[in-house]
Amino acid sequence: MLPLDRRFFLAGAAGSLVAAKASAAGLRATDAAAAPVPVNPLVKQRADAQVFRHADGYYYLTGSVPEYDRLVLRRSRTLAGLATAEERVLWRHQASGPMSGFLWAPELHLFDDKWVMYFAAGPSGGGEDVFRIRTYAVVCDGPDPMTGSWSVLGKFESPFDGFNLDSTIFMHRGVRYFCWAEREPGIETNSNLYLAPMKTPLTLAAKAARLTVPTLDWEVRGFKVAEAPAVLARNGRLFLTYSASATDDRYCLGMLTARDDADIMDAKSWTKSPQPVFVSSDVTKVYGPGHNSFTVDEQGRDVLVYHGRDYKAIEGDPLFDPNRHTRVQRIYYREDGTPDFGIPVGNGLVPDRFSPADAPKQFVRHDGDRVLVGAGDIPSSQFRGVASMAGSGAVTLVPIDAPERVLFAAPDGSVRLAQPQRDRQFVLRSSFVREAVDRDTVRFVLAGRPGMVLSHADGGLRLVARPKRGAAPNTLFRVS
Ligand code: AHR
Repeated sequence: MLPLDRRFFLAGAAGSLVAAKASAAGLRATDAAAAPVPVNPLVKQRADAQVFRHADGYYYLTGSVPEYDRLVLRRSRTLAGLATAEERVLWRHQASGPMSGFLWAPELHLFDDKWVMYFAAGPSGGGEDVFRIRTYAVVCDGPDPMTGSWSVLGKFESPFDGFNLDSTIFMHRGVRYFCWAEREPGIETNSNLYLAPMKTPLTLAAKAARLTVPTLDWEVRGFKVAEAPAVLARNGRLFLTYSASATDDRYCLGMLTARDDADIMDAKSWTKSPQPVFVSSDVTKVYGPGHNSFTVDEQGRDVLVYHGRDYKAIEGDPLFDPNRHTRVQRIYYREDGTPDFGIPVGNGLVPDRFSPADAPKQFVRHDGDRVLVGAGDIPSSQFRGVASMAGSGAVTLVPIDAPERVLFAAPDGSVRLAQPQRDRQFVLRSSFVREAVDRDTVRFVLAGRPGMVLSHADGGLRLVARPKRGAAPNTLFRVS
């Protein structure tokens, strides 16, 4: 009886040792130098996170801290590295005056070669006065935002000089736009979204356009809110996501869409998705997903950055619950080019989707315990690799929307989902090494049995003998 240890594993799968080590570390063998796979939550207690990959190759992250008393910044060569990157305090709220209270939702932008950090701030006078929130900016005196000195640049001259927050900046067709949330006199909401071209870092070049007012039922739960705009330009359109409702488990993402050749200053150019595009999930236990930003991973794949709690019930005011953690997951697109954000993927390694090389437009997915290959919704085709008891390098494949199941290859070669068992045979038959074929393609080798691999067969998967020669595309899986 061989023990389930490295000796047993190596004797059986010597050829996959590199894959074993790389896979265990979340790397793909051919990309051993590739970036590690991020683990959610990526950064604890950083709400409203802005993450972007700058031309210098670094990822930068800023966000609201639970104390709302300081502006922070961290950077890393990898997206995953933000989790442990050193965090620098750039600026602290003042001892008194209009910026002595809450500091909310900072965003870092390079404005004509100057680093400028925008944020919302209020006074510390107590009572309702603390919500006299306006948008301000600090500016760095040098080229490195992590080491430069920061000082107050000034206050954003908003159209109504009302409660305003959550500003973002994006370039479109050579014009720099400012998009933010503000309360407008005469409209009974907490905040609406506005857009205008910029003249200077704190002034607008034209009258602002009101893009959306929260009116739909999922926008007005607890509070009537449209805030935290973020823009993704893809597939000939601008996708403007925003956050709606109270900041508890009802918080969610909405989306406005405009053609990229439209007059985006005309509110009629923007179409509001009738349903929210990203909401809480009891399945993956992520609640109140919102205040998002967009970035790309090291392979250039679009990534959704957002915050979310891993519990639903909150005691007291959600605004003072500290556990809105930064989270990331990959963005996928429908045939028509619109983003489908799926559901929050939950805690653990960021999951992957797998398309057989002989069916590149289809995905390995599950329907109950049946493992299929085909089209279908995103959550049923996202699988997380979890380190297996079978020894270093092997992983179990766990569907994000059925975290109590694992992919299992039965002795007859059939493959299905099953409830994990500590039985040695079960462990080995539900443990696979991701053997990297190239940057985006893997083969799944059964732990301890290098001659047995997963294969696309009959609309599902089967465990088959490793092909003796040739590529055998049905045993190769493209990772997305
Ligand atoms: O996190 C503080 C504020 O709460 C953010 O500015 C806003 O987006 C959220 O509602």
